[in-house]
Amino acid sequence: MAKKLFIKTYGCQMNVYDSARMADVLAPLGYGPTDDPAKADMVILNTCHIREKAAEKVFSELGRLKIDRDQRQAEGNDMIIAVAGCVAQAEGAEILRRAPQVDIVLGPQTYHRLPEMVARATRASAARRAAKAAGVSRKQLPPRPGVLDTDFPVESKFDHLPEATVPQGVTAFLAIQEGCDKFCTFCVVPYTRGAEFSRPVVQIAAEARRLVDQGAREITLLGQNVNAYHGAAPRGDAEWGLGDLIRYLAETVDGLARIRYTTSHPRDMEDDLIAAHAEVPQLMPFLHLPVQSGSDRILEAMNRQHKVERFREIVAKLRAARPDLALSSDFIVGFPGESEADFLATMALVEEIGFAQSFSFKYSMRPGTPAAALENQVPEAVKDERLQRLQALLNRQLADFNRQMVGTILPVLFEKRGRYAGQLVGKSPYLQPVHAMAPDAMIGRIAMVRIDGLSHFSLAGTVTDETAAAVSVPAAGVFSREARA
Ligand code: 5AD
Ligand code: SF4
Repeated sequence: MAKKLFIKTYGCQMNVYDSARMADVLAPLGYGPTDDPAKADMVILNTCHIREKAAEKVFSELGRLKIDRDQRQAEGNDMIIAVAGCVAQAEGAEILRRAPQVDIVLGPQTYHRLPEMVARATRASAARRAAKAAGVSRKQLPPRPGVLDTDFPVESKFDHLPEATVPQGVTAFLAIQEGCDKFCTFCVVPYTRGAEFSRPVVQIAAEARRLVDQGAREITLLGQNVNAYHGAAPRGDAEWGLGDLIRYLAETVDGLARIRYTTSHPRDMEDDLIAAHAEVPQLMPFLHLPVQSGSDRILEAMNRQHKVERFREIVAKLRAARPDLALSSDFIVGFPGESEADFLATMALVEEIGFAQSFSFKYSMRPGTPAAALENQVPEAVKDERLQRLQALLNRQLADFNRQMVGTILPVLFEKRGRYAGQLVGKSPYLQPVHAMAPDAMIGRIAMVRIDGLSHFSLAGTVTDETAAAVSVPAAGVFSREARA
């Protein structure tokens, strides 16, 4: 009988990608997906450690899962419980100590070894069942051994992963780089994901082709520090940066209409990559470029390794290369030592640059990171108040950006059916959901859509010419500082 697998994913897109790959690893063992944890033979919590309360959320979810498992065991079934991802990496031993119901703890770099771990957990569970059947009392049952694998193994998991079994759909993620050597003083990623590693170009192109064969038209290249990419070139005699990789994928992967990449660091926004934005029409004119703060003093304390002026220069170059480019960013308020003047510098930078969409967070003290040891922590109430002011500004910019779309014609890649009969939902070049009446046959295709109206998070429009865009070429000048001024 087919076994059921339930994966709950927290956090970033890299985790979404990892969850899909864990499902691929487990498919040959007979595991297929379910969306009901109570019916699952195996549950994986793929966790995130970037901000606070993540670990607590995991422990409360584990409490709920224990009830599901007890119920299943009463019915003669079992459930393997695994904790994966960055909380597992950071707090593996603590998880096994505090939550003995957990069978497997695995870090982000070891999921290619899941079959081995599952075999060990299954053997232990079979031994318990046999003991129970032989009348051994609950207290004397052999313990669940708790498999812990949070190594950073020398072999790369990417060399050991099977091909994707479950198609990702019209838009797909592809991990090209992992880990981070930047050591921003607030961030756990260098500790949970390890050192920077780039996959070879050939391996990435092969995966991109498979994704397109499975129906993907848009691929988002993923990495914690994706523009630090430096992978082996196809002939293996050189290393390529992200700009070259994007050009290569655009030229050699037939049917790939849209390329995106995330998440970038301003430090690695090199001229060659900026030039790719001008040269490659498939590269979407929407870039997530976290700046975190508009104050040089705070950027320095964060170890971001660049000044505000450098960020301005990069944005100017990007806009010169691609005038319709829009930006999104990440911001942290209340980093230790942030004064009102530092915060106002962030607000001023946001006003100056103009962001289409952004993510903003209160600084969260992460154990083991250098900033956690700083003494001048900002009171919670001040962080709350600054976050509110920043978010009010960012939300206004988001609304302005969306409003400007009304009356323009945008290429929309349709992904799936909408809520109403005959309606499809797709994405604009700027990742805005767009609703339009269109036949199902348009799913997976790009059509020009005139934007007629908007709701809070999405646009509504009318297909004007279904065949106009073989590849996505956004209407020129849709969004630039000049257009908004
Ligand atoms: N506190 C608050 N925000 C953080 N981020 C990363 N670490 C922290 C932290 N300790 C934010 C940064 C990063 C995004 C993914 O999460 O803005 O760009
Ligand atoms: Fe974290 Fe900084 Fe690395 Fe981004 S660049 S993952 S914020 S350490």
